Amino acid sequence: MIRQLSYAIILTLGLAASALAQSPSADQVANGKTLFDDNCSACHLATGAGHVKFGTVVSADLRAPRLENTFHNDDTLLMRAIMQAEDQNGKPLSAPMSAWSGRLTTDQVEDIIAYLKTLTS
Ligand code: HEC
Repeated sequence: MIRQLSYAIILTLGLAASALAQSPSADQVANGKTLFDDNCSACHLATGAGHVKFGTVVSADLRAPRLENTFHNDDTLLMRAIMQAEDQNGKPLSAPMSAWSGRLTTDQVEDIIAYLKTLTS
């Protein structure tokens, strides 16, 4: 009984660890694309290439490798950029880029980030 229980625990831990290490699923990327198309593409273009002018502000190119380089390959910083509208140094991004916290969940933004990583320049 104890042996079976420990096998079960080891199996569960192993599955959890492999889920964490895995790259995003196709479902996550597909969901990220839908969310991006609905919420972001108006300003960043469907390709993610950006460069749309809003007065003196220009929307960012969200494709790889530029985006990951800017945010030091750190998804936490990228999450903060989208949720709080802060750049890689924590300074506010310019309008019309706004904070998505309260409008999108962390899970949804994770999916958007997974999708952005599939876009290349
Ligand atoms: C109303 C237009 C608009 C919408 C909608 C918008 N953005 Fe932006 N975004 C911008 C502009 C303009 C900038 C550049 C701001 C600056 O230079 O300070 C920007 C900057 C960013 C940056 C910072 C990139 C960098 O290299 O500094 C990220 C990340 C980003 N947007 C992601 C998103 C995501 C994801 C969405 C959708 C959930 C989104 N944006 C929706 C206009 C928009």
